[in-house]
Amino acid sequence: MSGARVMVVGGGGREHALAWALARSPRVGEVILAPGNAGTADLGPRLATPLGLATPESVAWLAAEAERRAVDLVVVGPEAPLAAGLVDALAARGMVAYGPSRAAAELEASKAHAKGFMQRYAIPTADAVTTDRADLAGEVVDAFAARAGGRVVVKASGLAAGKGVTVARDAVEGRAAVAAAFAAGEREVVIEEFLAGDEVSLLVVCDGHHALPLPLVEDHKAAFDGDEGPMTGGMGTLAPVDPWGPEGLGEAMRRVVLPSLEGLRDEGRPFVGTLFLGLMLTPDGPRLLEYNVRFGDPELQALVPLLASDAFELLDGAARGRLAGVRPAWRPGSCACVVMAAEGYPGPPTTGVAIDLPADLGRDVVVFHAGTARDAAGRLVSAGGRVLGVTAVGPDAESAVAGAYEAVDRIAFPGAHVRRDIGRRARRW
Ligand code: AMP
Ligand code: GLY
Repeated sequence: MSGARVMVVGGGGREHALAWALARSPRVGEVILAPGNAGTADLGPRLATPLGLATPESVAWLAAEAERRAVDLVVVGPEAPLAAGLVDALAARGMVAYGPSRAAAELEASKAHAKGFMQRYAIPTADAVTTDRADLAGEVVDAFAARAGGRVVVKASGLAAGKGVTVARDAVEGRAAVAAAFAAGEREVVIEEFLAGDEVSLLVVCDGHHALPLPLVEDHKAAFDGDEGPMTGGMGTLAPVDPWGPEGLGEAMRRVVLPSLEGLRDEGRPFVGTLFLGLMLTPDGPRLLEYNVRFGDPELQALVPLLASDAFELLDGAARGRLAGVRPAWRPGSCACVVMAAEGYPGPPTTGVAIDLPADLGRDVVVFHAGTARDAAGRLVSAGGRVLGVTAVGPDAESAVAGAYEAVDRIAFPGAHVRRDIGRRARRW
């Protein structure tokens, strides 16, 4: 085999997008997916992950497999294997990985830790109180609700795939969310002030020293149109968006990104991988809602179709501390990603539903699979909450969004849950 052997860890839409972009690189010989999904089968071999991805045993197993297969670069998609120390296990074997160490990944693994970190480095964020006292939490909820017209935000501290957050409309709902979190075994909750504004996802590729911001993306986290309903991992994205102009991005880099990376370096946990900032643009400037330590899903699905340069060069360069000089190139125009989720999502999804996915939906359309599988007869079936990410590129946001919905309407997926307003807010900015 000539060319690099890359392993992509994860089985969602983000990992399909990563593998899709890496497989197009002239420098990549093989992409192994651990474990991938039904949509990745034509991009490279799939490695079943019998132990899963989230435990110390599973990451030790994966690191050994990567070494045995002489993988040149491991790209880690989801947060769980990062929090379980996969990058550390790979480094111990002398292997190169794109993703943060376990210590650096703590910024996402614990919301309480992240809030403390933001406060330590004076990074602008919502005021918050972290508590393990169920008996005191109610008063905190009331106090924050009184400050923001009744609204208040309650976050379960642990990893929750983006679903552990409740934006409560009033103190009663806030108190109920706190009670539910403790009842579910959460040790600590973060209760914070509600911030109003436009929200964007800023993904920054880091090599431990340099930080390279990708174009801003708008995600849609709530389950239903108009940002109603429970939080999901993300129902659709549009890129690039520009709610702030260049000064806004500069301010976010100066006040949020660079102090975060410096803080991590000072604490002996330099950051390699994607630092993903969930930012709210408020009248007082950008406020950091949360850190993630990996590419956004489905943010990445709306970025890779626009990437005109080599994805391997970018990720391998970052993993090796050689990001200086790497300048990704972007296609002109916009990309929209509309998620087709299973009935029931973000609650327990209905799975095993047959999907009729036309092979050719047009030159500018790419469908990234997330929760998909093949049944015994070889038919494509749903196998998770978010099932497909249907992307389309167009000369502008309007046409990209229209192209994605046209493709969605040609996919027969009974019971699919789709938001119909992806990108609508961004197009008004
Ligand atoms: P997080 O996982 O912390 O990003 O929260 C998930 C979503 O909840 C965010 O993407 C926001 O839409 C919303 N959210 C989180 N914190 C706040 C806040 N302080 N004010 C308003 N909305 C918030
Ligand atoms: N789309 C939001 C996330 O990946 O957390």
